[in-house]
Amino acid sequence: MRIEFFDTHISNQAVTRVADVLRSTRLSEGKMVKDFETELSRQIGLRNPVALNSGTSALHLGLALSGVGPGDEVILPAQTFIATGLVILAQYAKPVFADIQLRTGNIDPESIRRKITERTKAIMPVHWAGYPCDMDEIHAIAKEFNLAIIEDAAHALGATYKGRRVGTISRFTAFSFQAIKHLTTGDGGALCCLLDDDHRRARSRRWFGIDREHSQVSVLGERDYNVREVGYKYHMNDLSAAVGLGNLGEFDVTLKRRQDIADLYRTQLRGVPGLRFLECRDDRRSACWLFTVLVENRLAFIKKLKAQGIPASVVHQRIDRNLVFGGKTPGLDQQTIFDDRQISIPLHSKLTDEDVDHIIRAIHQGW
Ligand SMILES: Cc1ncc(COP(=O)(O)O)c(C=O)c1O
Repeated sequence: MRIEFFDTHISNQAVTRVADVLRSTRLSEGKMVKDFETELSRQIGLRNPVALNSGTSALHLGLALSGVGPGDEVILPAQTFIATGLVILAQYAKPVFADIQLRTGNIDPESIRRKITERTKAIMPVHWAGYPCDMDEIHAIAKEFNLAIIEDAAHALGATYKGRRVGTISRFTAFSFQAIKHLTTGDGGALCCLLDDDHRRARSRRWFGIDREHSQVSVLGERDYNVREVGYKYHMNDLSAAVGLGNLGEFDVTLKRRQDIADLYRTQLRGVPGLRFLECRDDRRSACWLFTVLVENRLAFIKKLKAQGIPASVVHQRIDRNLVFGGKTPGLDQQTIFDDRQISIPLHSKLTDEDVDHIIRAIHQGW
């Protein structure tokens, strides 16, 4: 038996829609992108999603729209993918790493508070594995110190926090539709904007700062524009949007399957010596992109599973270790323990009941 760690879900509808776009030869940003955004709002409840070419672009655009610039500090956890930190450097700002909660892998609001200086401009909470951060506490801090929030929800499409969808809570929320995410467009992302004015600016700045929807083509043959703010080539194209639109129809089913498997792991692996679950509170629902646990003797755990055809991965280790950020931040005590013990086991909608049983039995055997 060989089990995959990740899965790229492509529906039949996605294949049909892509073929239609290819035949139309209209590949750039157009009707498909608009329809994809409409459906992201309608089916998933996202607020003002702006479709982009990656989650990294979404994070960067969120920072730029928040006015983060040279000399500013942005607080983030080290438990994330390197993209979260690099976009801060791209704005010539300084990433400041806060500690995480060992019980969730998410940024610790108390640690955020300790990292604030007069240069702090924004907070970037990351919903590790799809489990929402303590957003009420983070919002209270942001309000007190007048900070922007850009949520990194690359793992959290479909998650809810106190009855609200992630993507409707903070001024900016960034999603990723990269190949192995819940909903893929090949590569892609979306920036959700709480404020209508941010929504308008995001749509313009994703395409060089030109208002694509309202600008006219002059008699000379070029679109009329006079760019006032730096813009980027971050828009999604219709080919990617067609993949996303086609896949959206099956999103609820695949998300539910992930959540059901996670529930099974929680009930059937309870009490296994040397293994600890992350938190799972009633006031929020994880999007279950990963099933991360904390284990003792991690290398033996990985080898034992591998011998039975089961992949396991840390997925991402603390990013502050990279020289581009100046090396490990001292004093991140919970992060250090998490980094030594965290490991994720397979969690995706293509796992069969037999696969899940096999994984549970293998872990029960010990390592
Ligand atoms: C936490 C996190 N943030 C950001 C990103 C970047 O997303 P993308 O690959 O769509 O640019 C990823 C991608 O895996 C991620 O895991």
